[in-house]
Amino acid sequence: MSDRLPFAAPLTVLVRDVASNMDRCERENHSQEIDAARARTQHDAYVKTLNDLGLDVHRIPADDTCPDCCFIEDTAVITGKNAVVTRPGAASRRHEIAAVRSGLNQWCTLHTMEAPLTLDGGDVLRAGNRLFVGTSSRTNPQGAEFLRKIAALDGLDVVVVNVRGGLHLKSSCTLAGPDHLVHFAGSLDITPFRDAGLRCTPVIEPFGANVLVLGPVVLVSSRSPATADLLSREKNIAVRLIDVSEFHKADGALTCLSIRIPRPGAWCT
Ligand code: GLY
Repeated sequence: MSDRLPFAAPLTVLVRDVASNMDRCERENHSQEIDAARARTQHDAYVKTLNDLGLDVHRIPADDTCPDCCFIEDTAVITGKNAVVTRPGAASRRHEIAAVRSGLNQWCTLHTMEAPLTLDGGDVLRAGNRLFVGTSSRTNPQGAEFLRKIAALDGLDVVVVNVRGGLHLKSSCTLAGPDHLVHFAGSLDITPFRDAGLRCTPVIEPFGANVLVLGPVVLVSSRSPATADLLSREKNIAVRLIDVSEFHKADGALTCLSIRIPRPGAWCT
């Protein structure tokens, strides 16, 4: 891959606290009860990890009219100097964006999506100067095309891919390093990622496909020990396990819980 910008840990991270009624969030599978208090404890540990890594973490208060508000990644996509404030695919999540817009305003020029466009940030994976955008039950082709126009302002290309399973593109794959993709084996066509020069490693745990790389550190769900073991054998990567089990029950994972703002002159996931 030819990246114009170096890869680095983000400068600032936005997170949003857990709503007390998070158990009423959107989710496919209701078989396991969500414990919102436990989710808050796990969220605090996630935030502490980001702080311990030296990142500047901004917390946006929860809103109990938005049970999914902690999944802040879905509400905005930063392309550089510009950012798209999304129109989330789930109607119940559209009130989440007002607070995120206020929170992001100081860092980026914001572009807002209008109906009938939809896009969830969980469907957007950045790799260098490229954004892979998954069309899914949450992101429609018009939403992806809107992002293409804004991304071009920051010199990024968009590659649209089809999400075959899982909630979002990043339910199936994420970067574990600047040119290293991990993907849940068999869950997506990796041809476009290979064609972009990414090394693609299959993992056998569904939650292992969603890791969060922050410079030389990669956060891995503690529910994915085999993935953690696999990645810990990589050079130049330090694996940290994080318990996000309550968020997994809500179809969420590590990347969903934050929006990462790149350092000037660098890119991050
Ligand atoms: N619970 C995350 C979502 O469905 O958007």
